[in-house]
This record gives sequence, structure tokens and C-alpha cells, in this order.
Amino acid sequence: MCGIVGYTGPREAYPVLIKGLKRLEYRGYDSSGVALLSDGDLNVYKKKGKVAELEESVLGKDLSGTIGIGHTRWATHGEPSDRNAHPHYSQSGRLAMIHNGIIENYAQLKQDLLVKGYSFKSDTDTEVLLNFIEDIRSNNNCSLEEALRIALKRIVGAYCILLISDDDPDTILAARKGSPLVIGIGKGEHFLASDASPIIEYTKEVVYVNDYQIAVVRPDELILKNLGNERETPFITKLDMELAAIEKGGYEHFMLKEIYEQPDTIFDCLRGRLLTQSGQIMMGGIENNLNAFINAPRIIIVACGTSWHAGLVAEYLIEDLCRIPVEVEYASEFRYRNPVINQGDLIIAISQSGETADTLVALESAREKGAFIFGVVNAVGSSIARLSHAGAYTHSGPEIGVASTKAFTGQLAVLMMMALKIGHAKGTLDEARYLRLMNDLATVPEKVKEILQDTANIKRIAEKYKDASDFLFLGRGYNFPVALEGALKLKEISYIHAEGYPAAEMKHGPIALVDEKLPVVFVATRDSYYEKIVSNVQEIKARKGKVICVATMGDEIIPGMADDVMFVPDADEVIAPLLSVVPLQLLSYYAGLAKGYDVDKPRNLAKSVTVE
Ligand code: F6R
Repeated sequence: MCGIVGYTGPREAYPVLIKGLKRLEYRGYDSSGVALLSDGDLNVYKKKGKVAELEESVLGKDLSGTIGIGHTRWATHGEPSDRNAHPHYSQSGRLAMIHNGIIENYAQLKQDLLVKGYSFKSDTDTEVLLNFIEDIRSNNNCSLEEALRIALKRIVGAYCILLISDDDPDTILAARKGSPLVIGIGKGEHFLASDASPIIEYTKEVVYVNDYQIAVVRPDELILKNLGNERETPFITKLDMELAAIEKGGYEHFMLKEIYEQPDTIFDCLRGRLLTQSGQIMMGGIENNLNAFINAPRIIIVACGTSWHAGLVAEYLIEDLCRIPVEVEYASEFRYRNPVINQGDLIIAISQSGETADTLVALESAREKGAFIFGVVNAVGSSIARLSHAGAYTHSGPEIGVASTKAFTGQLAVLMMMALKIGHAKGTLDEARYLRLMNDLATVPEKVKEILQDTANIKRIAEKYKDASDFLFLGRGYNFPVALEGALKLKEISYIHAEGYPAAEMKHGPIALVDEKLPVVFVATRDSYYEKIVSNVQEIKARKGKVICVATMGDEIIPGMADDVMFVPDADEVIAPLLSVVPLQLLSYYAGLAKGYDVDKPRNLAKSVTVE
């Protein structure tokens, strides 16, 4: 949700900022802009639309300056437009600021400033905060840093801000609460960004700024302070990420690249953990808290979107294999409905980015109530990873495509290993099934490779149905969350309205939608519900619906009934979601492509949703 980038050092700032903004564009692409400071001149350039449009609009302009800040926006306050794009100038024109987050009490602050004679050029909460800072500075005749500190103590909401002033040619002031900020440490230069992707090619040494910290960043100095003006020691971390991981590497889109990476990312996730030879699953975070898991009266899973779907699969897994009651909660609802958290209850937080505001605030309040939090997170060092008491990374690598694909299968792989390990230790999963499932899980990377070997059929199906206005996705048991995920992917990428349902639930309402125009996708791999889902397929066919099935290779019944079939290799039903989701990812990718949409940056979405 908005990407921010900053640079101070000996280089020209503009190229660093533009490149950084392109890497952060997945966080929002409603508008973008930069502010550059050169010989006391503070120049702001901004433009509605994607970063490429900004680049075009600044041709021929003065882009000099060795200090600058840049922003790519996902609109919250104010429509996407040039005027609402960041950076914003303060009233005097002497300060420029960018902001990721929401200032909740901005309306009152704005009112007060209007009374004092301030006027506003945009509809944003950011401009209000900036003028509030300027007002404090002029009233108190204090430094900008002091004014920022005072302002931050008086605002309510979430922020990551970068602030520069025309009277300080070296310094970027930065602060965060609830929205991420990483500072890269170079030789005589510093880089600031929402995540490490704009930094990685310059340095691998970074500092993750914490909530309520202010950073004073100069070319050769990085000072961290708390809001009480006390210095705090920056904790330097080494980035474990390669540049190639954040580039397209010959693929037309990041989404396609990430779908194709899955044999490797799932393998990386299992590597060193799933030891089929010795029959062990090595997961430190579980090992160290095994009793807490075994004795947990209840597990609550908190997540959003695709990660929530992974949570639903985990519910089936943990209840089935570990016999522990599980509740799967939308993070945004969990926090606000005053949930009951009992002694011993365990919370599993699932998040690709580790920065999703809804999940983060839900966890913060659960933690305050004494809950133990286990994080299943992809982004190393992210806020949710740091907030968790223990956890397991999914090791899927950076996911840039806005629609989550490889992160989902990474989450499933981690959750499957967790359930196997806990069930085995608890004695609810017998040795023979445990070993069989371990072996099955180990074969998943090869089986995903098999699905990806020839995708022409999936492409053909996507093109055949691309003009449908609605889709239904149906599945039972472990494949029900996969149906939900298939529907979400299609909505996101091709803007076709799609609903996911438990296949049996269809007859309680959605069946009224079925006619010869409605494509219905069944996730109908061979499992304990197979006969039942075959009956559901018949019910749709009897009403002339178009049936598309994800079926197990070798199935001879489904092809005789369905209009179109996408095959996946055979696997135990516990493991099957890792395979059955892959054709659905491709179906949505090819449908979006056929409709001419920007599949990596679907409209209105952002990768990392850091506003509540
Ligand atoms: C869907 C998608 C979103 C995210 C959701 C949670 O393709 O990407 O639904 O899954 O915003 O994000 P994380 O997992 O980063 O917490």
C-alpha cells in the first residue's frame, strides 16, 4: 500500500528513485512522484498513473540533486490524480513529504489549520500532516526534527513518512508506525524504501526501522531515536536476497514467472525440513514449542485474502491430523469483535508480506491479551515475523505479481509440515500415514513441474471462457479452499465476477444462477468426496451449465461429463491443494492476458495492504 523510496549520498538521486519506484510499483500504481533537492531548490514532479507516465512527464525537466524522495501511491484519501499524488509541498513550499498509511484524525487537524489560514492543494491526509509539522516548527521556532516528533505524538493512525527541507541539503527525516521502512547502508550514502527491493543492488546491509522510531538520515550518518528523543542503536541485518529474484528473468509477467517458480520454491520450503529418509520433520519454531501445540485447546488462524485461504486448508489439516479445534478468522473482523482468547490458545498468523495492516493489528491486540503467536510469513524480517513469538518462513522468495501464487503454495507446504509434525508427536497421526504423507509431500515439486510442462490446454480454456460475466468455483473438503482461491484469482486478474462455494452448498442457492452461459469450475481430484462431487457435476450438467474440471490424471469418468478438463497428478487428498491450485492460477493468468489486462498490476489492488 504505497511504496516509498529515498536517497541521500553522492549519486544523482533521480535514477535511484525511479528504479526504486518501479520495483515498488506492486504496492500501488494510482500515481507517482519524486522530490529532488538541488542547491536549495526543492523540485517536486508528480503524475497520475504508473511510474512510466511520471518518467515521460519529466523529460526535459531539471532532475538534478543528490538527495530525493519518491512515492508510488495506492489511493486512500482523495481520488487518483496529479494533485493528490505525492510528494506534497508544505504551504511555504520549503518542505516536501511522502507518506504511506492513514492519518485518522486528519479532519480535525485540517480544520484547525484552515482556521489558522492554511490552504490545501490536495485532498490528502498527507498534506495535512505536513502543514501540521510546518505549523509546529514555525510556532515553536524549533528544528524540523523536533517539530516532526511533536506532530507524531499528536496524530492517530499509521504512517511511514520521508521528509526533506530546502534548508538542509543532506538530511532525510523518516518515521514509521505500522507501515514498513528499511534503510540500506552504503559507503557514504543511504537508501530508504518500503522494502529491500530498491536497495538490494546497492548494499546488502540494512536496518529495519521499528514503530515509533524517527530516523535522521545523512550520507554518512544514520541516527535512530524514539519519540522521547532518546537515541536507539540501529540493528544492522544482512539481506538474504539476490537481484535476479526481483527481476522478470525472461518471463512476460512476474505472475507467470512466480507460477513457474513453484517447483523450486516449494522445494526450497521443504528442503532441510522434510527429511523423508529419517522420517523427521525439522521445524525449530514448532520443535521449541511442541508442548504448546500438542496441548493447545484451540488454534486460531488469522489472515487475509489468499493467506486466509491457506488458513482454511490448515483448518482441515490440523483438525484431521492433530485433532485440535481450529478457527480461521479474517484478521479485519477478528480484532474488532472482541474475540475470546483462552489460556493456552495458540494463534497462527499467515502472511506473505508480513506487513498486512489488518493482520498486524489483530496480532498486536491478541499479543496484548497474552496469546502465543506463531507466524507463517514469507518476507523475512517483516513486521509480522518480528511480532511473532515463533514461526516458520515459507522461503518462497520475493513475490512481485500482485496476485499471490507461489506464496500460497509456500504457505500450504509449511502448514502441511506443521500438521504432520504435530499430529505425529501427539499420536493422532499414525506412523504409516505420517510416512506416506511425508513421501507424498516430497514429490510435490516434481508433480507441479509436470503440470507446468504443457499449459496450452489451460490457455485454450481461459480463452474459450474469457467473455463470461460470471464463474462459479466449487470444491469439497480440502479442495473447497482451493475453489475459493481459484475464484479470487480470476476476479483479481481478469475482473470476471467469480464465487467460490463448497460444492454441496451450491444446491442451497447458487444453483439458481446456472444456465448455458455460466462456466462452473469443479476442483474434482480423486479423494474421499469424489463420488459426491461427480454427482454435483451431473447436477450442473442437467441444468446446461458449462463444466470445467480440475481432475486427477488417469480419471476416465470426469472427461466423459465435463466440457473441459485440466489434469493434475495424483496425490493424497491432504496434499492435493498444492497441485489443484496451479491450473487455477494459470486459468486466471491466461484469462487476464486474453482480455488485455495488466496481470501484474490489476486495477485498484496493491500487493502489500498496509492500511486497515
Ligand atoms: C490475493 C492476494 C491478497 C493477499 C492479502 C494478504 O492474490 O494477494 O488477497 O493474500 O492481501 O496479504 P499477505 O499475505 O501479505 O498478508
